[in-house]
Amino acid sequence: MKHLLKMLDLETEEILEILDLADQLKYELKHGISHPHLKEKSLGMIFQKASTRTRVSFETGMYQLGGHPLFLSSDDLQIGRGEPVQDTARVLSRYLDGIMIRTFEQKEVEDLAKYGSIPVINGLTDFCHPCQILADLMTIREVKSSFDGLKVCFIGDGNNMANSLIVGCLKVGMSFSIACPDGYHPDGQVMAFASGYGDKFTLTNKPMEAAQDADIVITDVWSSMGMESEIEARKRAFAGYQIKDDVMAAAHSDAMVLHCLPAHREEEITEKVFEAHAKEIFEEAENRLHAQKAVMVKLMGE
Ligand code: CP
Ligand code: NVA
Repeated sequence: MKHLLKMLDLETEEILEILDLADQLKYELKHGISHPHLKEKSLGMIFQKASTRTRVSFETGMYQLGGHPLFLSSDDLQIGRGEPVQDTARVLSRYLDGIMIRTFEQKEVEDLAKYGSIPVINGLTDFCHPCQILADLMTIREVKSSFDGLKVCFIGDGNNMANSLIVGCLKVGMSFSIACPDGYHPDGQVMAFASGYGDKFTLTNKPMEAAQDADIVITDVWSSMGMESEIEARKRAFAGYQIKDDVMAAAHSDAMVLHCLPAHREEEITEKVFEAHAKEIFEEAENRLHAQKAVMVKLMGE
């Protein structure tokens, strides 16, 4: 593994190795065992979109690994004024040991990896959010002990989260059911991947059907970053796609709820369901730190 660009690129074995290392790093952090695996290494973090969790967890994670994180807002970089990504990649490769980038187009992330000579980590694009899915898988395994026989249900937009969850969950052996309105389906590349999993993957426009006997219920915002002009139309399209009591009643009684955050209460999830599952949701947020540290050690460590 040279980069983390999308879940589609990872072998199941690589995912499990990252999760095992993440568990170990979490244990070490909780027990005061230092782990300076990235001493004297620098990570550049390019942000073309807002962030709370990704920025703070990468920055703190890099510090905990003994390295140096640099926050690079696209407002201040020449890339924001049109310097080509090919040139940015070749320049940054001469200063840094790794780049994390949050941007719009997946192609920009792929190009950064193609033209640069250091590891690139995708911190979210319109297409996918692999760092979040690694944290989600880590959280699921912590709570449920194993992935065996589990069913994941996603209700909402076929967006970057859905695209990555479908691939990650199927790769580790869980089954996956997604409910989204017509016109808001996951990406075609992801649908093609999922079609190879037979009845372990289902797509419906009926949330209750998707939630039936689910062990993990997941949602995300109806309008992702960059879709601000579609907010009102999306509120109408997604009105019936909320995680609420009747959806949870269709799932297993001990079903977990995950949300990558930020959450819009009373839109994609009710306040009641969110607060009833706050423990898992904030553990999931914490696990961003541990999962990303594992990714950085795998990609940037000796
Ligand atoms: N879940 C997530 O990526 O959060 P941020 O947008 O705050 O980084
Ligand atoms: N789908 C959301 C995820 C935010 C972490 C977005 O792209 O805005």
